[in-house]
Amino acid sequence: MIINKHPLLSLPLLLTLLLSHSTSTLSQSPASSPTPTPTTPTSSSSPAPSPSSPPPTDIIRILKKASGFTTLIRLLQTTQVSTQINSQLLNSNGGLTLFAPNDNAFSSLKPGFLNSLNDQQKNELIQFHLLPTYVSVSNFDTLSNPVRTQAGENPDRLALNITSSGGNQVNMTTGIVNVTLGGTVYTDHQLAVYQVDKVLLPRDFFEAKTPAPAPAPEKSKGSKKKSAESNATPADDGGVESDAICVKQWHVMWVFATGLVAAFAW
Ligand SMILES: *[C@@H]1O[C@H](CO)[C@@H](O)[C@H](O)[C@H]1NC(C)=O
Ligand SMILES: *[C@@H]1O[C@H](CO)[C@@H](O)[C@H](O)[C@H]1NC(C)=O
Ligand SMILES: *[C@@H]1O[C@H](CO)[C@@H](O)[C@H](O)[C@H]1NC(C)=O
Repeated sequence: MIINKHPLLSLPLLLTLLLSHSTSTLSQSPASSPTPTPTTPTSSSSPAPSPSSPPPTDIIRILKKASGFTTLIRLLQTTQVSTQINSQLLNSNGGLTLFAPNDNAFSSLKPGFLNSLNDQQKNELIQFHLLPTYVSVSNFDTLSNPVRTQAGENPDRLALNITSSGGNQVNMTTGIVNVTLGGTVYTDHQLAVYQVDKVLLPRDFFEAKTPAPAPAPEKSKGSKKKSAESNATPADDGGVESDAICVKQWHVMWVFATGLVAAFAW
């Protein structure tokens, strides 16, 4: 009978189906991480561009071509942030902005300063020169201070304030150094590289570290104190800032609304 034939036929079929299904789910898993928060250099080995696209942007090639950025290039390479930048440019749509201190900027640092930094601090220093979006010269006045760099969001220790009169001059301050934005080294619609004649030094390098919060494995009795401490950590300040903006907007709307009511009352 026909019905008897089916199980015989479909057993190998079923097996191959199962097999191919499981391999395809396996191969899918690495690609499905959705958040492109691009601060880790480990993401460098991610997907290649489609074959028809133009050659990917290479930050080192750009700086070499511009010349005068030997120290910055060396730092970008030893910290592997150059690889990170190139892969961020492949993967993110918001683009990037790099403030590029030239060799004069580095040589006017206190002698031995760079060597005094450990690897993590060198990495922080370079990330502090990177904004996670493309900002054109005329758009600096649209940023709100302190501007978020890729070094993180600590408004005290990692503050970078940028002021621009809308015209040509763009001033920056970290609380340690004041810098005026120099010329444009490179720009497309994804990456902007601006020369700065001073290294942007974050306050973080100059203020005494607050004692690190107690490590996790602690008696549960101490949890009250611990949570108080973790509330004070600067991990997420973005919410506070946007709340403030919301309040401002509501205030404006309220003023506008009362104005309208008053106009009608007349
Ligand atoms: C930038 O700083 C210079 C002094 O260094 C000052 O003259 C200029 O007005 C500042 N410009 C802006 C837009 O803050
Ligand atoms: C940066 O700007 C913020 C907000 O205007 C201000 O509170 C802070 O003191 C400024 N920091 C520096 C280093 O200028
Ligand atoms: C930076 O500029 C501010 C005012 O614009 C000034 O008060 C401060 O002393 C300057 N800091 C340095 C390190 O030059």
